[in-house]
Amino acid sequence: MIVADLTQATSFLEENGLFSAREKALEAFRTVQNRTCRGAEWLGWRRVLSEPDDALLDRIDTHARKIREQADLFIVCGIGGSYQGAKGILHALKKPFHQRPDEPEVIFAGQHLGGRYLASLIEYMSAPKADGSPKEVVINVISKSGTTLETAIAFRLLREWMEERYGVDAGGRIIATTSPQGGVLNRLAEANGYEKYVIPDDVGGRFSVLTPVGLLPVAVAGLDSKTLFYGAVGMFESLERDPGNLLDYAAARYRFHEEGIALDLISSFDPEWREMIGWLQQLLGESEGKEGKGLFPGVASYTTDLHSIGQMVQQGQRNLLETMLRIRRPMSDLLIREREGNVAGVDDGLTYLEGKSLHQINQSAEDGTIRAHVDGDVPVIQLMVDAMGEQQLGEFIYFYELFTAVYGTMLGVNPFDQPGVEAYKKAMYQQLGKPS
Ligand code: PA5
Repeated sequence: MIVADLTQATSFLEENGLFSAREKALEAFRTVQNRTCRGAEWLGWRRVLSEPDDALLDRIDTHARKIREQADLFIVCGIGGSYQGAKGILHALKKPFHQRPDEPEVIFAGQHLGGRYLASLIEYMSAPKADGSPKEVVINVISKSGTTLETAIAFRLLREWMEERYGVDAGGRIIATTSPQGGVLNRLAEANGYEKYVIPDDVGGRFSVLTPVGLLPVAVAGLDSKTLFYGAVGMFESLERDPGNLLDYAAARYRFHEEGIALDLISSFDPEWREMIGWLQQLLGESEGKEGKGLFPGVASYTTDLHSIGQMVQQGQRNLLETMLRIRRPMSDLLIREREGNVAGVDDGLTYLEGKSLHQINQSAEDGTIRAHVDGDVPVIQLMVDAMGEQQLGEFIYFYELFTAVYGTMLGVNPFDQPGVEAYKKAMYQQLGKPS
């Protein structure tokens, strides 16, 4: 279950304004439901869940099992909505420091133009395994347009390596996830016999994590892509019946925007959330930041960032609200045990914590920080998630997809396009001398 707890936020707002914002939120939700909102031709991410394609889920599962047997490295080549969701899920659910030797290491590429990163990746691909045998590589290139420069460049360099290493068999180790037709990637896939997955035309990049874009990398990593998907289906059904909490949340965020709040700092005390917050930052930022509107989605990872931007949050310009992601039950925990005697007679000053777990200590840090931030005039919205698992992440993903659609609609923007992104591309291509 996911609950937006607004108790530390709505006291900053007047009831009247909230009431009319809530009406507006309901109206926005209805226009998403009956497909009359702006950008309604991009609502395919709802259809994907209302009409689950079990054959596709099975295909992904079977294919992922084969890749897990075949590959030492599985390279996901994509940017923006074509990589951030899968990265977030893997970071949240895979145990840190525990790369198993019998399963592929999942690596992300094509999400920037850094030469050193790619050069180093190619070196890593070329280096033999500990037993002296060569690494087996499978690449999943993901691009809806099939033309995004960062992805295209990385894919060209990685493809060259694959062709050199595997010759005519390279095509059998490359998977293309792209639009049903059109674009360079489709042409390459057809010419070279890459296995292909389709991103439906009516699903935009940042809303595509529950299609093969996210599901295949998740399954290859050994996670349960069906449970993730059906977690989202469950949330879809539940919000169709009762969107009340989501609408209260959208109304409050909308009122803060109206009141002149400029920044929504998305934070968490659980490092597992870090990359998923990156996904949320992209989802909100690209969807609402247009026509001079929207809250800038900032990111904070606590308690680390309490020692950097914490000062700014507490006492800087009062133009922000905070959205804190919280987990009720940790994935695992550690106890501060009682010590028999102090090392060399030195008291480390932590006796008062003995018998407590790190989760309890972290929760106290969360509660204390919320109190301090609210006292410092920062409204805090708490997004409560029961636990961290495939099902809960599926629920979380759909919750925020619908939230983004409703909130963007309230603002009066089209939440599904990103016309501003074209400006940097145009200027960059001009610099690079790309023929028009
Ligand atoms: O949300 C979006 O549409 C974007 O963030 C895209 O996902 C991103 O620009 C990558 O585009 P593409 O998949 O076409 O390479």
